[in-house]
Amino acid sequence: MIGKTEQQDGEANHTLPMRGVAQPSREEALALSGVRVVSHPLIAHKLTALRDRTTPPERFATLTRELGALMAYEAMADLELEPAPIETPLESMIGARLTGEVVIAPVLRAGLGMAEGFRQTLPEARVAHIGLRRDETTLHPVAYYQNLEHLQRGGRIHASFMLDPMLATGGSAIDTLALLKRYGARGLRLVSLIAAPYGLMAVRREHPDVPIIVAAVDDHLDERGYICPGLGDAGDRQFNTL
Ligand code: PRP
Ligand code: URA
Repeated sequence: MIGKTEQQDGEANHTLPMRGVAQPSREEALALSGVRVVSHPLIAHKLTALRDRTTPPERFATLTRELGALMAYEAMADLELEPAPIETPLESMIGARLTGEVVIAPVLRAGLGMAEGFRQTLPEARVAHIGLRRDETTLHPVAYYQNLEHLQRGGRIHASFMLDPMLATGGSAIDTLALLKRYGARGLRLVSLIAAPYGLMAVRREHPDVPIIVAAVDDHLDERGYICPGLGDAGDRQFNTL
């Protein structure tokens, strides 16, 4: 979606669900290959608090960070290990360490809270920031910042996690994943908290090679492209800019 002309934008508008296209059902989205919905009581408990309209911004930010840490634990469960010979104070042993570096790529702004949680879980992870905001009229993503050059410099990256709590039309995720691929990010995965079926199908179609890990798949997008029941605007609620 990066770099579309106005005419292309106009054409793309007709393909958005809130503009007359039927939205896929939850069941269809859940049947997609490569989509994992994490089931954990703590995640369900905290996600409900996050959704609650009475949750104030400071608590919302804390919950986003905590959910980021829990999702990190789940999303990193299949990372590869290599043998690591060490000396304990008592004797030698062969331990295990991650086979390479891990990259976390939060999408500004809302992905920042999740990134904090990921960094609590793995403080040595490399961070690749991407600034993207959705144009609220066209619903197309507009890229405004990226710090990705370091992905091409040295290191032995073996997993890269794109982080964004909301996967709505999927436009932001599609562009971000394309950008990360362009910079050579290895072992890409997408981690979100709440996804709409429409966005999941769209990302799956454009990036069939990227595993998607989410905490919940909601029902539909409303006419403004908000996920329902969702949680509202994740960036505004996290940073108290409503
Ligand atoms: C939100 C969210 C995603 C995007 C999802 O960001 O964090 O990046 O919208 O929508 P999409 O799937 O339809 O592209 P927003 O553009 O509101 O920016 P913000 O985080 O700075 O508030
Ligand atoms: N972005 C959000 O923050 N919330 C939505 O429901 C959709 C996009």
